[in-house]
Amino acid sequence: MHPETGYLAHTAPASDKPLPEESLTVTDNRTGKTYTIPVSDGTIRATDLRQIKTAPDDFGLMSYDPAFLNTASCRSAITYLDGDKGILRYRGYPIEQLAERCSFLEVAYLLLNGELPTESELDDWVRQVSAHTMIHENIKKFMDGFHYDAHPMGMLISAVAALSTYYREARNIHEPHIRKLQITRLIGKMPTLAAHSYRHSLGLPYVYPDNELSYTKNFMHMLWKKTEPKYSANPVLARALDILFILHADHEQNCSTNTMRAVGSSQADPYATTAAAIAALSGPLHGGANEEVLRMLDEIGSKDRVPAYIAQIKAGHGKLMGFGHRVYKNYDPRARIIKRVAEEVFQVTGRNPKLDIALELERIALEDEFFIRRKLYPNVDFYSGIIYQAMGFSPDMFTVLFAIPRTAGWLAQWQEMLEDGEQKIARPRQIYTGHEKRDFVRIEERAPGRMVRVG
Ligand code: CMC
Repeated sequence: MHPETGYLAHTAPASDKPLPEESLTVTDNRTGKTYTIPVSDGTIRATDLRQIKTAPDDFGLMSYDPAFLNTASCRSAITYLDGDKGILRYRGYPIEQLAERCSFLEVAYLLLNGELPTESELDDWVRQVSAHTMIHENIKKFMDGFHYDAHPMGMLISAVAALSTYYREARNIHEPHIRKLQITRLIGKMPTLAAHSYRHSLGLPYVYPDNELSYTKNFMHMLWKKTEPKYSANPVLARALDILFILHADHEQNCSTNTMRAVGSSQADPYATTAAAIAALSGPLHGGANEEVLRMLDEIGSKDRVPAYIAQIKAGHGKLMGFGHRVYKNYDPRARIIKRVAEEVFQVTGRNPKLDIALELERIALEDEFFIRRKLYPNVDFYSGIIYQAMGFSPDMFTVLFAIPRTAGWLAQWQEMLEDGEQKIARPRQIYTGHEKRDFVRIEERAPGRMVRVG
């Protein structure tokens, strides 16, 4: 009997017993045995396959799914994504409505708590986050230790990991109020750390937070304040940044969120865990793509060179950065919103000439059989970099700008994972492809040039 459903998992082939509707019947042709496996939410449990054995001492059948192409690793109530229809919702609310009507901190509250805040809840939340924007003075010294041209993502990963040395109680991840405090601290401190990494690379003095300002205006103040007594952020740019933060706040089980859950499952503290997620985000196939898009547009140089560049991609030389997605097989709804925000930003900053190259790339790619057949559409990273550059950021800051809001999503997912009674330490299986047992060979008897076969 299956422990949860109570119905028979292994049935004789000739059984007349009516089969449960929500089930899967498979025959193991190695043994001729037939098994009925429960189906729930369109999935079977991989562990149910373990009862399919060829002999009592057989380990049992496993599923093999490199890169998790078809494996759900958790149940989550945070983000809903339909990649074929191009739908993205946080806690049920369409991303378009949230981007239009909310502030980033309101959305962070929604992700973390499951509901939109009331006015007083929001005021309280904003106050709490603002109270945690300062960082210990020693962190500044720590930042000073980086080389002048250190990549800001490397600095951010290290600085967030270093926070775990300041808040030793953070290890107590099972205590809800301690967890909540670390979540608030991390969301509060991310813009400060990000701004410090930016100013370090420019050799500018660090600027302390101004808690009278909104989350994004305060961030802009820490980035760009020079000698003026009070930095005044352009409201259109501050709102654009807020929208970009909302769009980047969560995206269900992507590479960095999966890292957050995997590292968090070992019960590491949230600073170490978030640092690991930021490291995952830094890769060019994930958050680092926004930086790569700008490099690609620079390399293309002008609109008339787009067809030649596309031909090069089709010939197998590299990828069109900012295109394609594991889940979206339709236009990324975030890219659509970003395109609109770009127009608003350019009203203030002037048009970034790279937009014309990007639009031409998109136009040609969307008409091209190669991209149509593979369902490759622009993703969130395709246009975000063009906006960031127009706002004054250098490309190596782009992924840092992604990490700030995604921290809210990572922490919501981390919290959900910790509260999920079904979750344990994440530990996949493998198919061993190495040698059978063999005896040790003394060094003087070993043949030269023998390589260990990898893969
Ligand atoms: N340009 C050209 N060809 C592509 C691209 C691209 N950007 N993306 C996928 N393909 C091709 C790929 O070569 C493969 O072709 P074939 O079937 O002939 O072998 C086919 O499309 C399927 O791609 P895949 O590599 O199996 O897809 P995946 O789900 O493993 O990868 C991806 C998804 C996002 C890593 C990939 O599309 C990619 O590398 N895109 C460029 C980097 C990028 O923009 N990343 C940001 C992703 S969105 C935001 C985020 O996660 O941070």
